[in-house]
Amino acid sequence: MNLSVKSQTLIELEKKYGANNYAPLPVVLEKGIGARVWDVDGREYLDFLSAYSAVNQGHCHPRIIQALCDQAGKLTLTSRAFYNDQLGSYEKWLCNLFGYDRLIPMNSGAEAVETALKLARRWGYDVKRVPDLEAKIIVVEGNFHGRTLGIISASTDSASRNGFGPFLPNFIVIPYNDIPALELALADPTVVGFLVEPIQGEAGVVVPTAGYLKRSYDLCKRANVLFLADEVQTGLARTGRMFACDYENVKPDLLILGKALSGGVLPISAVLTSHEIMLTIKPGEHGSTFGGNPLSCAVARAAVSVLVDEKLADRAFRLGEVFRSEVKAMNSPIVEAVRGKGLLNAIVIKPHGKNAKGEPRTGYDVCHDFLDHGLLAKQTHIHTIRFAPPLVITDEELERGLQVIRKVICI
Ligand SMILES: Cc1ncc(COP(=O)(O)O)c(C=O)c1O
Repeated sequence: MNLSVKSQTLIELEKKYGANNYAPLPVVLEKGIGARVWDVDGREYLDFLSAYSAVNQGHCHPRIIQALCDQAGKLTLTSRAFYNDQLGSYEKWLCNLFGYDRLIPMNSGAEAVETALKLARRWGYDVKRVPDLEAKIIVVEGNFHGRTLGIISASTDSASRNGFGPFLPNFIVIPYNDIPALELALADPTVVGFLVEPIQGEAGVVVPTAGYLKRSYDLCKRANVLFLADEVQTGLARTGRMFACDYENVKPDLLILGKALSGGVLPISAVLTSHEIMLTIKPGEHGSTFGGNPLSCAVARAAVSVLVDEKLADRAFRLGEVFRSEVKAMNSPIVEAVRGKGLLNAIVIKPHGKNAKGEPRTGYDVCHDFLDHGLLAKQTHIHTIRFAPPLVITDEELERGLQVIRKVICI
């Protein structure tokens, strides 16, 4: 597909004045409704990425935009130096809905993860009585929790880490989906938390064996260690339940949310937990200028209401079954694996053929073909392509998306 002058110009601007820390597909978007987006030349696409699962409710959901506009005209930011009329009722509402005592509002997913790590450490010192500066957190290989220095200290991805050291100490890294390794690591009495994604998103939608989360949770309880679930990508209906942990009836000690908490409208994140854990942090010890601002509270409340009222978890579950069974039935010669839960899915591409530059074709090349046929998806790592459309996608739009996938992978 040839790029218009307008698209080229806009892409060049980003390349020239931006940080070049991403490698986007060559499409410049300017409008979105539900599962559909349009580029600057008016061409329509099906969005099968949803801004990495932030837009679960669909682009520009009218109820969320209405809440945004209503609140934006009244009051947007007070800082936490004062009370505002939205925060308390939002906290009460979300805590009651999700079954937690307390919530701490932040902005990005990474900030919420950092907050959860700090809470786990503080709980470790104040409640578990781990000696000062000795608290450890267990993490797993292939994790993705964001980009801050604390978080990349726990990463095993060289692209995330290289050239950014020195790192934060006291992370114990074990393989994902490995119960004996967790059992061994939990024997260390200075461990205060186990941080895990219920399904690893960025690693390529890696779904652990059934029972892994429950067994991990039970082992943590036995060792007096907090179970920290990073549901930034898997949470809020994406995987066919409100939370991916719900599949195993696990209620994390610290539930970390972001992305779809705003339906993609603002950066809004949160950590939910118990009185005991949350109240270890006292005034002045943690915070954020924007966290808990009235605009975010109004938007998050509308965004979560949409998930509930439109039964989007059930929809994700049903359409996810359709998606996986149809992609598997394509029997594509270039697909090695199809996996996922709900509408968080991925295919793994086998090495096949050469691209225009004469190099072996990768997930990027396949995504480029999808783009040419009007479907937006993005590879994660080299050979895995994630499919995560907005959960409001219609049956007909999903079918159209599947037709594009069929056209591209059944070569
Ligand atoms: C599981 C998980 N945790 C944390 C994050 C970081 O969120 P943010 O990019 O909003 O900082 C991401 C982002 O992709 C994620 O997938």
